Amino acid sequence: GAPVEVNIGKMEPGQLIRNEWRGQPVWIVRRTPEMLASLEGLADQLRDPNSEEPQQPEYASNLYRSRKDEFFIAVGICTHLGCSPQYLETDFGEQVEGIEAGFFCPCHGSKFDIAGRVFSGVPAPYNLVVPPHYYVNDNVVLIG
Ligand code: FES
Repeated sequence: GAPVEVNIGKMEPGQLIRNEWRGQPVWIVRRTPEMLASLEGLADQLRDPNSEEPQQPEYASNLYRSRKDEFFIAVGICTHLGCSPQYLETDFGEQVEGIEAGFFCPCHGSKFDIAGRVFSGVPAPYNLVVPPHYYVNDNVVLIG
């Protein structure tokens, strides 16, 4: 499929927008400073904190799993059996103490942080997939 061009120039902090690439949902989240801070210190709760699983671009292996700290781009499909996780902009409630934001899959309870890193002890076997992408300029990202 052809790359998909997305304008992110008007995204609000905390906003998630949905796009489609190769028939798959692709999410873009403009993360707040609080969301980025929530990623620190989670490593011992995560299955693969450094995202060493295969099939991830090199830039999906840093703490934020992104080319630009502020923007998280991922395929919006649970890596367990393909359900669509919910975006939790604020917190996981009582379910995962200390987590400020992330994604929750209602099918079997998998939990991901706001960089798409999967927590330990849930069915999803690896982190949300970061699709290949690059920034054309400050306002436009090309997915694919
Ligand atoms: Fe998401 Fe099973 S499909 S936890």
